[in-house]
Amino acid sequence: MRVLVTGGCGFIGSHVCEFYARRGDGVVAYDNFTKFELRRTGYDTKGARDHNRQVLEALGVEIREADVRDADSVLEAADGCDYIVHTAAQPAMTIGWEDPRLDFSTNVLGTFNVLEAARRFRIPVASCGTVHIYGNAINDSLGEEATRYRREPAEIPESEPVVQGVLTPLHASKRSGEIYVQTWVDTYDVRAASFRLTGLYGPRQFGGEDHGWVANFAIRALTGRPITIYGSGKQVRDILYATDLCEAFHAFYERGKPGIYNIGGESRNAISLVECVDLIADILGKRPDVRFGEGRHGDLRYFVCDADRARRGFGWEARTLPREGVGRLIEWVEEHRHFFA
Ligand SMILES: NC(=O)c1ccc[n+]([C@@H]2O[C@H](COP(=O)([O-])OP(=O)(O)OC[C@H]3O[C@@H](n4cnc5c(N)ncnc54)[C@H](O)[C@@H]3O)[C@@H](O)[C@H]2O)c1
Repeated sequence: MRVLVTGGCGFIGSHVCEFYARRGDGVVAYDNFTKFELRRTGYDTKGARDHNRQVLEALGVEIREADVRDADSVLEAADGCDYIVHTAAQPAMTIGWEDPRLDFSTNVLGTFNVLEAARRFRIPVASCGTVHIYGNAINDSLGEEATRYRREPAEIPESEPVVQGVLTPLHASKRSGEIYVQTWVDTYDVRAASFRLTGLYGPRQFGGEDHGWVANFAIRALTGRPITIYGSGKQVRDILYATDLCEAFHAFYERGKPGIYNIGGESRNAISLVECVDLIADILGKRPDVRFGEGRHGDLRYFVCDADRARRGFGWEARTLPREGVGRLIEWVEEHRHFFA
C-alpha cells in the first residue's frame, strides 16, 4: 500500500512514516518544514529540523516539501495513495494566539484540503485532533491530591460537551478541523476519522515550552537546564507513546468506522507534571531544577481519555507504560545530546 503522511517530518508524522516504511509500504512524507516553535527552544533548529528527514530518507520514505494549504499540491501527492494520515498542523496553543492566521490557515484550510483529496480519490483518512477541544471548563470539576488533580469519573468519553470554558485560537481551529472531518463523513461518505489526541511523547520529539512537555522535561533534565512548570504542576494527562498511536492509525485503516475517537493512554497512563519530573529524576538518578511560573491562558488542567470507543471500534488500546516509554525517550535524548547543547 502507499500512504501519504502530512506533517511527515514532524514528531508524530515521522513515527507514522517509520511504521509504514518498516512494513514495506510506500510512504510519502509531506511537510513544509516549519515547526515554528523550534526557534524558541534554543536547540540546534536546523539540525533538529533535518534530523527526522534524514532518518526517514534512510528508510526509503519519499520526502515532499510542500504546504497543506496548497490544495493542488495536496491532490497531487494523494494521487495513487491508499490512505492519508494527516498530522501537519500548527499544534501549539501559545503560537495559536500569537499568530491566529497561521493557526487558522494551517489547521482549518489544511484539513479541508486533505479531506478534499480523500474525497477525490475515495481513500480513508485519519486526522489528528486534540483533547483541548473539550475546553477548560473541565478545570471547574477537579479535586486536588498531593501531586495531581483528580476527577470523578476519572476517564472522559467523547460524549463530554466540547469547547466549554475559555477558548483560544487553537480550540477554534482544531474543533473546526474536526467538524469538517465529521461533515465529510456525513455528506460525502468519506471514511474519515478525527483522533482527539492526548499528550504524546517519544523519540524525535524536540519538545520545548510551547509543545511536547514530556520531551521538554527530559531534554532539560538531561542537559542540566531548569524546568519551568506553568501552574501548580498537578495538571494531568494520560500520556501516549508515539508508536502506540501508529498502531491506532493502522487499526482504524484496517477496521475502523468513520467518526471521532478519543485516543490516549487512559487511567493507567495518567501522570501529572510533577509526577513526570519525579519519574525522570528516578530514571536519571538526579533531580532536575524545577521552577514554577503563572498558569497559562486556556490551560486544560486535566484530561484522561475514556478510549472505549476505539477499543470496541477497531480493537486498539495503549500498550506502553510511562516508565518504559519515558526511559526510551531519555535514551534517545542521550544519543542526540548534540542537538540540545
Ligand atoms: N504531540 C502532542 O502531544 C499532541 C497532542 C495532541 C494533539 N496533537 C496533534 O498531532 C498533530 C501532530 O503533532 P506533532 O506533535 O507531531 O507536531 P509537530 O510540530 O512535530 O509536527 C507537525 C509537522 O507539520 C508540519 N507542518 C506545519 N505546517 C504545515 C503546512 N502548512 N504544510 C505542511 N506541513 C506543515 C511541520 O513542519 C511539522 O513537521 C497535530 O495536529 C497536533 O495538534 C499532538
